[in-house]
Amino acid sequence: MTRPVIGILGAGKLGTTLARLSVHAGYPTLIGSRKPVADLKWVVDVLAPGAETVTAAELTDRADIVILAIPLSQIPALDPTDFAGKIVLDAANYWADVDGSTNTFSSLTEGSSEVTQRLLSQSLVAKAFNHMGYHDLEIEVTRHPSARSAMAFATDHDAIRPAVTELITALGFAPLDLGPLRFGLLLEPGSPLFGLAEPVPAFKEALANVYDSPFGRHIIAARGGKIQ
Ligand SMILES: NC(=O)c1ccc[n+]([C@@H]2O[C@H](COP(=O)([O-])OP(=O)(O)OC[C@H]3O[C@@H](n4cnc5c(N)ncnc54)[C@H](OP(=O)(O)O)[C@@H]3O)[C@@H](O)[C@H]2O)c1
Repeated sequence: MTRPVIGILGAGKLGTTLARLSVHAGYPTLIGSRKPVADLKWVVDVLAPGAETVTAAELTDRADIVILAIPLSQIPALDPTDFAGKIVLDAANYWADVDGSTNTFSSLTEGSSEVTQRLLSQSLVAKAFNHMGYHDLEIEVTRHPSARSAMAFATDHDAIRPAVTELITALGFAPLDLGPLRFGLLLEPGSPLFGLAEPVPAFKEALANVYDSPFGRHIIAARGGKIQ
């Protein structure tokens, strides 16, 4: 069976870690950023050997599944037509040090991946790979293969659920489908689920208690209730 081509946009801490996992899992893996290929290739060859360094344009052209591993504040700079028809896995989070002290991108009533989906309206967006730190991504996979960590995802597109599930599984995690994209808000910074690298039972327990947390209470206050 031909494996989909994985394109990882963003070659920093998260992007190169996911590229290593993707190569290890046997996927044709492309990685790129705004840098010229010549400036990035040596970094990729060291940090993610086997991944192919390409321009952002070539990446979106060739990839079947694009993972966004760029700062959240860079998403409006993307050209939606480049991503049209693609599965887009949005791993970006609001991070004040990088994105500015005020989050002008998303809110408690519209999660960041919902905004990404609205901007990339011709793409099939899922929120995935956002809640686990890059150090945990690799440690969990390489050192604890018998107790896979839950990797939660959310999407409005039932058609891509099998592909997202397959990729998360192949990269070494236990996929946990939260349902529609709006539930992805529960995975964002501030949530007790953010940063979790735990097997499914512990993750589900944290999920069940999320509205008891300050973050959960803020959601209820902002939306007039839990996410429905
Ligand atoms: N670090 C983690 O553990 C972690 C975990 C989960 C999610 N995330 C999220 O993943 C994203 C990346 O985090 P990171 O820690 O990997 O950041 P990082 O180390 O600073 O890397 C960011 C990468 O994005 C590239 N980039 C920036 N703007 C771009 C654009 N418009 N088009 C293409 N490439 C662009 C940068 O390269 P150039 O500037 O050269 O283009 C760089 O390679 C963030 O949204 C973060 O919140 C991070």
